[in-house]
Amino acid sequence: MVTMNNNKIMALHQAIEEHQIKGFLARDEAEALYDLALASAPLGPCLEIGSYCGKSTVYLGTACRDRDTVLFAVDHHHGSEEHQPGEEYHDPELFDTSVEAINTFPSLRRTLALFSLQESVVPVVAPSQVVVKKWATPLGLVFIDGGHSHEQALTDCMSWADKIASGGLLLIHDIFPSPQDGGQGPYLALQAVVARGNFYWEQSINSLGVLRRR
Ligand SMILES: C[S@@+](CC[C@H](N)C(=O)[O-])C[C@H]1O[C@@H](n2cnc3c(N)ncnc32)[C@H](O)[C@@H]1O
Repeated sequence: MVTMNNNKIMALHQAIEEHQIKGFLARDEAEALYDLALASAPLGPCLEIGSYCGKSTVYLGTACRDRDTVLFAVDHHHGSEEHQPGEEYHDPELFDTSVEAINTFPSLRRTLALFSLQESVVPVVAPSQVVVKKWATPLGLVFIDGGHSHEQALTDCMSWADKIASGGLLLIHDIFPSPQDGGQGPYLALQAVVARGNFYWEQSINSLGVLRRR
């Protein structure tokens, strides 16, 4: 994907590295998040499920700031299955021993401050399935990168898809058509949304699947 604002994106990549923002997002996917959030802004605010320490939040949030809209950043901040002690992506630096749990919220707040995004990103510290129940604002773009189990990915994709405005985007991270490349939860969830008929697959950027609402 050719990004709309190369200098700005390069500066963001550099700052992400300089400040050692932890996260799980490839550069081409980050660029696509920025560009797609810019393009969808006229349709409504953006929302992400799974902010972690704020890597994806920086790209989506900067685009929202550039378009004078907002990003709602939903995460319970206790980590996914793979972040828990003993699991593959556990990071002891993010473990709060006083409550014996992962806590990525302080890292997200640090990221928002470093990138001057406090006026453009609204952190929502709660489980996705609780937030979606009372969500009423039509969204221009939703980025799903929360729990990756089949059940959680399906619940997130199906429930948040209904909140997207006509012509808006549903972006799903970690789409791996072949099981050899990664877990199948997000991929099966994407297929289930397309099978319902009101979204169509538009493109993929690395492991980022892009669906558009008819
Ligand atoms: C893979 S990380 C997100 C990575 C991030 N997007 C990035 O760019 O680095 C997944 C995040 O989803 C959050 N999460 C998992 N299940 C969730 C749920 N049901 N509701 C809200 N957040 C959830 C975890 O706390 C974790 O921070």
